[in-house]
Amino acid sequence: MNSRILVSGVSGPIGAALVPSLKTGGWSVVRLVRGPATGRSADNAQIAWDPAAPIAPQAVSGFDAVIHLAGEGIFGRWTAAKKRRIRDSRVVGTSNLAQALAQAEEKPKVFVCGSAIGYYGDRGEEVLSEESAPGTGFLAQTCQEWEEATMPAVQADIRTAHLRTGIVLSPKGGALGAMIVPFKLGLGGRTGDGRQWMSWIDVQDMVGAIHHILKNDLIQGPVNMVAPKPVTNAEFAKTLAGVLSRPAVFPTPALAVKLVFGEMGQELLLSSQKVEPGKLISSGYPFRYRELSTSLQHLLKS
Ligand SMILES: NC(=O)c1ccc[n+]([C@@H]2O[C@H](COP(=O)([O-])OP(=O)(O)OC[C@H]3O[C@@H](n4cnc5c(N)ncnc54)[C@H](OP(=O)(O)O)[C@@H]3O)[C@@H](O)[C@H]2O)c1
Repeated sequence: MNSRILVSGVSGPIGAALVPSLKTGGWSVVRLVRGPATGRSADNAQIAWDPAAPIAPQAVSGFDAVIHLAGEGIFGRWTAAKKRRIRDSRVVGTSNLAQALAQAEEKPKVFVCGSAIGYYGDRGEEVLSEESAPGTGFLAQTCQEWEEATMPAVQADIRTAHLRTGIVLSPKGGALGAMIVPFKLGLGGRTGDGRQWMSWIDVQDMVGAIHHILKNDLIQGPVNMVAPKPVTNAEFAKTLAGVLSRPAVFPTPALAVKLVFGEMGQELLLSSQKVEPGKLISSGYPFRYRELSTSLQHLLKS
């Protein structure tokens, strides 16, 4: 019989690429989707949940693995209400899921839970490993609480990994989707002084590395999900423009970013994180896309 896996957040760019690959890999996939009440669909391919409410342990019992990617999108102006949704959808949702898994009669062997390199805050030129201390700011605080919310699963001896994910490059939206239009129009360029580090990962490596974590019993705790070669924002702009055969001569001043996007612009677009994928490398994950140019070429020209 196929191994059974429960996956939340399947409609985002990562989930959309992950689910078909899990099925190809022989997993029997059940989606955890938002709905009015916890319950299974007639064909058992879907379980509805409310991230804000406790989950009945029997609803999530009997899975070999659980991958939890759900969370309110972080783009847009961070009003007080938006920030609350960003935080609560992750922290409360993860806590409810982890408690149900911990109490389930048949617990999963592994719980893979989303997190982000936002954990590290704005760190300039510092090289960041999984052992680096957390940073400050809204995203750093949210990521710490998000990771801590898995504690019931950890205490129930479920192997738990936190995906400290960098900028996922995908043809289906996300950061690249937001950048592509001005660059295609020849209006792209660096953001701010362009010296901030961008730690990116191709969506195919994101998916490949999740499979690697599922298979590798020794991996647990935080895992930096980034390619081995981060680039500065200026280099990113130059490479993207080069792949599209366009110039990259229109910088967006930091002041404009702060005026238009406020706190979100400061934490997401202007902050610097030079992150190394220590655990993926030491456990032998074979990156497919190490160079930004190769990743962008296959994403934008396929
Ligand atoms: N993409 C990136 O560059 C990146 C970088 C760092 C971290 N991450 C993290 O990785 C995870 C997946 O990212 P993604 O970019 O593939 O997807 P995403 O667009 O951020 O959305 C993930 C999923 O979360 C669910 N969702 C949306 N609003 C929600 C809410 N208010 N409460 C609970 N669930 C909600 C939706 O699934 P349903 O509608 O099916 O419930 C959605 O498909 C996220 O947690 C994200 O923060 C992504």
